[in-house]
Amino acid sequence: MIAGDMSALSIPTVDLDDLRGDDEARARAAAAIREGFGAFGLVYVRNHGIDPALLDRYYDVFTQLTSRAEADKRRLARPDLWYQRGWTPPNTEQAVAAGGQPDFKECYFASPTAIDAELQAQYPEIYAENVWPTDIAGFEETYLALGAALHRAGSALLTGAAVALSLEADRFTRLIEGGPHITRALRYIPLNEAQVGGGILWGEEHTDFNLLTLLPGGRFIDPSGARCPPPDPESGLYLRTRATAADPAGRKVRGAAPAGCIVAQVGQQLEIVTGGTFLATPHVITAPKAPGYSRLSCAHFVHAHPHATLFPFTEFRNPETVRAYSPPVLAGTYDLKTLVDIALAPKTALDLLGYRHYDRLNHQRTVG
Ligand SMILES: [Fe+2]
Repeated sequence: MIAGDMSALSIPTVDLDDLRGDDEARARAAAAIREGFGAFGLVYVRNHGIDPALLDRYYDVFTQLTSRAEADKRRLARPDLWYQRGWTPPNTEQAVAAGGQPDFKECYFASPTAIDAELQAQYPEIYAENVWPTDIAGFEETYLALGAALHRAGSALLTGAAVALSLEADRFTRLIEGGPHITRALRYIPLNEAQVGGGILWGEEHTDFNLLTLLPGGRFIDPSGARCPPPDPESGLYLRTRATAADPAGRKVRGAAPAGCIVAQVGQQLEIVTGGTFLATPHVITAPKAPGYSRLSCAHFVHAHPHATLFPFTEFRNPETVRAYSPPVLAGTYDLKTLVDIALAPKTALDLLGYRHYDRLNHQRTVG
């Protein structure tokens, strides 16, 4: 276990320029990653290469889409692709901890990275071609530019994360090469008077199932449509730190990065391959106590290659981690199972994981 100053909740900031700097700079970045990912499950990232004007344009074009009639948006909804492309309607995704209650949010999914034809044949839903609205100027270009910039920041951070754990520098970047990376735009939907305080979930507490998540910063929108601060101190994104003897529930930290920084958080896949040395970060998006406020957000999900085995690397294997993370599972299988768990894929998708050709023998028995 890596020590961190839990009392002050001083989430470390990693400067990506340090990763390209001299020995001292690289050692400083590695120490920040070890503490941040180890004790808190997240770091703040500076010099990340995300242009704030690009993020503004991204939210502008996304708002043009979300303000459309539901029937228009439904045309971009792809349940056949397990919603991994295009528009996800409100009340669709469910966190595992939510006991069946869905999140009150609408989302958009697109991949900013190249799609390999062979992997698309093997995993048609998670490697589908992107779906775009054709009549919102700049939607596709803006979306792809932001997603690509976030992916570059994630790759750089993963190089630093490998160095921080004394692994070869490309250990994680090799793991993610060709993965089903995906960028998501989210809009948490305003509550009406009757819904406020009624237990509506914007985003129930969960950990992300991918390897690393980049969050460039969300924003609240007031009832007039203008950007505004959080309408009350509890609303918005909160992250939960690792449990300790002193804090068995962990600590809740507001997911607001210092000015000019973005947030990077550990997903389940990074936890598994590091045997829990880096811990997946639980997070929750709490609905406001006032009606009419919405929240826009963006997340880029960096994934392991679908053929990668999710199991602690040999460096992190011991009886305890083997017990905690067995059996080894292919990342593509893990993705499918989790998409069923969170209600984006149908339960019948699990049938794809076993043999599906028993009918051939049945046919032979009846015709013989
Ligand atoms: Fe999440």
